[in-house]
Amino acid sequence: MSAFTYIDNHLYCEKVNLKKIAQAIGTPFYVYSYTSIIENFKRIKKTFSAISPLIAFSVKSNSNRAILRSLAREGAGFDVVSGGELQRVLQAGGSPQKIIFAGVGKTPDEVELAVKKNILMFNVESLPEAYLIEEIGRLYGRKQNVALRINPDVDPDTHRYITTGKKENKFGIPWEESEEVAQEVASLEHLALVGLHSHIGSQITSPEAHILAMERLRILAKKLKSSGIELKYINIGGGFSIQYVEKEKPYKLEKLAARIIPLVKELGCRLIMEPGRYIVGPAGALVTRVLFIKNAVEKNFVIVDSAMTDLLRPALYGAYHRIVPVVRRNSSRRLIENADVVGPVCESADFLGQNRRFRGINPGDLLCVLDTGAYGFVMTSQYNSRPRSPEVLVRGTRWFIIRERERIKDITRLEQVPDFLI
Ligand code: LLP
Repeated sequence: MSAFTYIDNHLYCEKVNLKKIAQAIGTPFYVYSYTSIIENFKRIKKTFSAISPLIAFSVKSNSNRAILRSLAREGAGFDVVSGGELQRVLQAGGSPQKIIFAGVGKTPDEVELAVKKNILMFNVESLPEAYLIEEIGRLYGRKQNVALRINPDVDPDTHRYITTGKKENKFGIPWEESEEVAQEVASLEHLALVGLHSHIGSQITSPEAHILAMERLRILAKKLKSSGIELKYINIGGGFSIQYVEKEKPYKLEKLAARIIPLVKELGCRLIMEPGRYIVGPAGALVTRVLFIKNAVEKNFVIVDSAMTDLLRPALYGAYHRIVPVVRRNSSRRLIENADVVGPVCESADFLGQNRRFRGINPGDLLCVLDTGAYGFVMTSQYNSRPRSPEVLVRGTRWFIIRERERIKDITRLEQVPDFLI
């Protein structure tokens, strides 16, 4: 199912007309299709059903608790990278025994929280981190499960900011040192080395790089086995791409499964996956209103009421998102070409799209920025004192506010003016 479709030239999320939501709560807002999120999750589950992997949703891609709850109810696990994400998952009813804690910079407080909550495992990225978990494990008299995040030094073809599995990246334990580090970690009293992990980047369009990384993990797993270290889990990370541009090909999940399943069976491990974008990306959109249309010499500017503060991806990565009208108009209307869709923020990088074409759009019209369910709301800011947008979850003909629009008082709530200034 496509989450967003036109019915009589009006854009719907499932069976809800987006214009109706805009009339009720104003703009901008994020909207997600519940059914599409669940379908995407189930597609992965079904494709890998022969080995029933733990599908640990990557919380960083969308951490709204209603979304986490939706996935927890389907049996998802969760990949978290902070104490905050860990708390969110627990609040949403996620099972601690399906939580994996990753990240290069875990603080002692975060490790302690995770140990206390008895999570499934940590993905360990360095020896000093292993020693920290060992120390806290000792304090609590627990043996803590860990997997080693290995940097397999493979080069997926994606944006350099979201590549994580190459030698020069800060992530994981270098491939060359991995065996030695594994031996050391396995020797620690309060750590149980139960798995190997690799995440090589995000928006990876072909399974080849994932397969290559897995091959490397297999070599290491076998070496460890021969020295008496039996692993229970093998974690392939996330990174499965979505189609931001219609002509892009869908990620070949079946191809990945065909290569990975035999490999995992051979190792006798349970597979863990950490998809984020694949599950929520296409299921979400940002709806915004046109404020003004400005015709400059070189370009046209469609100025909208959302900005880089609502969707940072275009400004940060030059990412492309389709921008479509919520109400499609008659094709004979005036054509605006070479149009940049820009927000009100005082930065030249504040754009949602560049060099776009629109037919007959006018101030007051609604536009929809597609495929923004992942790394959309979670990367928002209050720069320029802009309140964050609300989030809405649609299921069938019903819609629910799952986060309210911020108000100015929410922005200033934690600030204090010292006495000497009063
Ligand atoms: N596992 C680990 C260890 C990760 O670091 C990530 C993403 C994932 C899983 C999930 O990756 P996914 O399946 O969503 O591709 N802000 C960027 C993306 C950063 C991804 C960071 N790590 C963007 O907007 O494209």
